[in-house]
Amino acid sequence: MSISTPHGGKLVNRFVEKTEIQGLDQHAGSLKKVILNDREISDLELIATGVFSPLEGFMGSADYTCVLETMRLKSGLPWSLPITLSVTENEAKELKEGTALGLYDESGLALAILHLEEIFSFDKEKEARLAYGTNDRSHPGVVYTHAQGDFLLGGKIDMIRRPAVQAFQEHRFEPADTRKIFLDKGWSRVVAFQTRNPVHRAHEYIQKCAMEITDALLLHPIVGATKKGDIPADVRMACYKVLLDNYYPKDRTILSVFPAAMRYAGPKEAIFHAICRKNYGVTHFIVGRDHAGVGDFYGTYDAQNIFKEFEPGELGIQTLFFDHSFYCKRCLGMASAKTCSHDPGERIALSGTKVREMLSKGIKPPPEFSRPEVAQILIDSMTGQKLG
Ligand code: ADX
Repeated sequence: MSISTPHGGKLVNRFVEKTEIQGLDQHAGSLKKVILNDREISDLELIATGVFSPLEGFMGSADYTCVLETMRLKSGLPWSLPITLSVTENEAKELKEGTALGLYDESGLALAILHLEEIFSFDKEKEARLAYGTNDRSHPGVVYTHAQGDFLLGGKIDMIRRPAVQAFQEHRFEPADTRKIFLDKGWSRVVAFQTRNPVHRAHEYIQKCAMEITDALLLHPIVGATKKGDIPADVRMACYKVLLDNYYPKDRTILSVFPAAMRYAGPKEAIFHAICRKNYGVTHFIVGRDHAGVGDFYGTYDAQNIFKEFEPGELGIQTLFFDHSFYCKRCLGMASAKTCSHDPGERIALSGTKVREMLSKGIKPPPEFSRPEVAQILIDSMTGQKLG
């Protein structure tokens, strides 16, 4: 066995050669400009670095529709969420298919050239219904969909430079980097763990179960845009570091950021997360309870069940499914309903609201719920102490 082959067979690299940068910068200046929002900028980077392989640009209408309706690109390859670039009607009127555009950030930095193949309108209600399973405006993904401009631009990109903000530099490994690391270390079974939260004992438990049957863990927190109320990435990174330093074997764990925006698309995002991680070279991917969920929009195991819609082997990455895990006072250890026969009253169960309330008052949740070092960082961040 070896590390995963990229989705579609080849790791995409849409960066231009260093020698071309100056010329392309000047060229971009002469083109029509489109200014990208945070998610579009992160998608651009993920396309260019091959995280979204086989995508070489923003989706055209055929891929877009196929993905929404069938969870496949028009080539038939599995893909579960649209990757799109939107503009307003007024902006669209100024653009012409078959031309090149400059893609810029808000500060006026040229990031890429888009070879505009298609300008198309789209149905936002349909997109929200098919991607998120709802049109409820309290769903952050639905809000994003409806806030977009009314037209989408499809076409390949050529990336001139990485986005200006590159936080967590020492933990920024792109697919080419992780693939090299795995090969250099001789790892052929690597499990990735997606998270947008500090790692609590339940997360640690399922990661360590997975580590028992693999060579290494890629702790892969998402650090792109998240919704209001989620814990900021810098606080989470401090939590991950202290946890790894104190409780994980250094020679079998890698902490690297996943610079994508969180979609909160539950089941469809679980597929998307798995495919992206495959492109980083990992062979196994953890999906636990309510993966990438928000509120009560998805059932506890919807994000596991959706994988049944693909033939075995079709996604090219092995999923490891875990039941809702907890600490059981009778077992004196972490467990799930699969391994523990005791009364649910024996479980240490704390709601997110309760934990937040405790932390904001400087009270550490019990060590059966969260490692004290992690709780301390969260308390410090909530009570205004500076991160170390
Ligand atoms: S997510 O939006 O990134 O999925 P979170 O960081 O809470 O949120 O979850 C990371 C991973 O751990 C997901 O695969 C999720 O399903 C899983 N998970 C979270 N809590 C539990 C739990 N108590 N038991 C089992 N799996 C869990």
